[in-house]
Amino acid sequence: MCGIVGYCGPKPASDILLEGLKRLEYRGYDSAGICVGKGEDFQIIKKKGKIKDLREAVPVNLAGTFGIGHTRWATHGEVNDVNSHPHTNDTGEVAVVHNGIIENYNTLKNKLISEGHKFQTDTDTEVIAHLIAKMYHGNLEQAVREALYLLKGTYGLAVMHKKEPGKIVGARNGSPLVLGVGDGEMFLASDVMAMMAHTKDAVYLEDGELVSMTKDSYTMFDLDARHIEKEVEKITWELEQLEKGGYRTFMEKEINEQSQSIKRAFQGRLDLDGATAHLGGLNMSAKQLLNVQRVEVVAAGTSYYAGMVGAYLLERLARIPAHAELSSEVRYKNPIVEPSTLYFVVSQSGETADTLYAMRELQRKGATVLGVCNAVGATIPRESDGGVYIHSGPEIAVASTKAFTSQISVFYLFALLIARMRHFSFEEGYGFIRELDRIPALVGQVLQRAEKVKEIALRYAHHQNFLFLGRGMLYPVALEGALKLKEISYIHAEGYSAAEIKHGPIALINEETPSVFLVPDDGLRDKVITSIKEVKARGGKVIAVAVDGDEEINDIVDEIIRVPKTIDLFYPFLMVVPLQLFAFYAAEELGRDVDQPRNLAKSVTVE
Ligand code: AGP
Ligand code: GLU
Repeated sequence: MCGIVGYCGPKPASDILLEGLKRLEYRGYDSAGICVGKGEDFQIIKKKGKIKDLREAVPVNLAGTFGIGHTRWATHGEVNDVNSHPHTNDTGEVAVVHNGIIENYNTLKNKLISEGHKFQTDTDTEVIAHLIAKMYHGNLEQAVREALYLLKGTYGLAVMHKKEPGKIVGARNGSPLVLGVGDGEMFLASDVMAMMAHTKDAVYLEDGELVSMTKDSYTMFDLDARHIEKEVEKITWELEQLEKGGYRTFMEKEINEQSQSIKRAFQGRLDLDGATAHLGGLNMSAKQLLNVQRVEVVAAGTSYYAGMVGAYLLERLARIPAHAELSSEVRYKNPIVEPSTLYFVVSQSGETADTLYAMRELQRKGATVLGVCNAVGATIPRESDGGVYIHSGPEIAVASTKAFTSQISVFYLFALLIARMRHFSFEEGYGFIRELDRIPALVGQVLQRAEKVKEIALRYAHHQNFLFLGRGMLYPVALEGALKLKEISYIHAEGYSAAEIKHGPIALINEETPSVFLVPDDGLRDKVITSIKEVKARGGKVIAVAVDGDEEINDIVDEIIRVPKTIDLFYPFLMVVPLQLFAFYAAEELGRDVDQPRNLAKSVTVE
């Protein structure tokens, strides 16, 4: 959600800032701006709309070799040019970009107004510029620290002052910020994608930390001016991963990457000799794992649905009580933490505020919390007690796809590990691994059948409402299918347990409301068929995602999307992919912005 870029170096800053902002576009935003410094001359250009609108407004050859840039996802004040960042104080000496929310801005603003400060915008951010100007007595670092002492809320900040050209001060509390160390140039950004084209050396800031950088050097310190030594970490992603690689959209590319990304999640973690899984990052001994009596998974959105699949699996395979909960609910319900419960927080970005705050609340109560994350170095993996990276590579489309299949991959490994410690024999473990090993290839086969999904999606895209229905482990997959469709096509879609429709949603069924049923060939198949018949009896159209060889289904439903056969536990992998494709093709047919759907942000860093 929203982004910051900063640059000090020898090159024209506007190019680097605009390029960095372009890389952060995927996070979601509604306006953008830059401030470029050439000595004491600061040029600010800001615009409502896309980076290309900003780019058009920036004079070619804009001189200046340091500067800050911002993509805004408005929280306070209308989306317009004036409220876009950077913001300045009355005299324009201080320029600030900010991600986050200043909760006490109104009190501060009133006080500053009474002292004669003149405000130009409706944002909460502007108070920061005025406060820093007020505190400034020749030392920008000190002025920023003193201003931050007065702020309540969350921020990722980058600040420049005309009296100290060539310097940027950054600060973090709740919104991510990372420093990029180059050769004779420094970068600051809310995520590494904005700087990867220039440097692979990153220093991640923690909450309460500040950085001061010039082109040749940087220092890190805390709010009390204590110096902090931090490790320089290597960014492991490659630049090509940030490109569309021949696809028209990132979402299509990411859907199609799934056999590879699932393989990466398994890589080095399947132990054929022991017929179990190795998950080194858990930081837990076999003894500690054996003492786990219950597993709780905490997450939001797609990651929550992946967590639900994980919980079903852990109960079924590992026979350990497991449950998934929304992170936004966990944080405020005063959760009961038992010492024998193991917590997983699942987050692709590792920055989702609801999930991060829930994790901190659980840790406050003494819980052991493990992260299942994708973005290396993000806040959740750094603050969790251990965890597993899903290694799906950068996921840029707002709608999560490959992260889901990689997140569930991790739960398959963890369930295997726990099952083997408890009741699974070597043979059972071995058989499980053999089937798991086939999954990337089977997902590849599902992807090869995309044309069929496309054909159906195009025919149905003009309906206003959809139901997605599944049972057992396919119930969360149905929820995910509905979420995908509504996110990117804006078609109203509801996911339900297939059995549940008779308790209410069946009232929605008519010829205009198609139902997508997930029909595995397991013990629940006949029950699902009964639900399909109930829908058909009421004139509803049915699209079934069914298994190769299930011929009986041909006469019961209107459309069939086939997936290859596997053992019943593994259908979530194979059945979620057609739902992702269905949403994608429907959204394309309706002319939607597939990668950056309206109102959404990739990583939601506010509550
Ligand atoms: C998925 O398509 C969504 N955009 C969203 O629900 C997302 O999964 C959710 O915000 C959680 O994000 P995270 O995995 O980065 O924590
Ligand atoms: N609260 C600030 C605003 O509305 C910053 C929003 C953001 O994080 O982009 O301008």
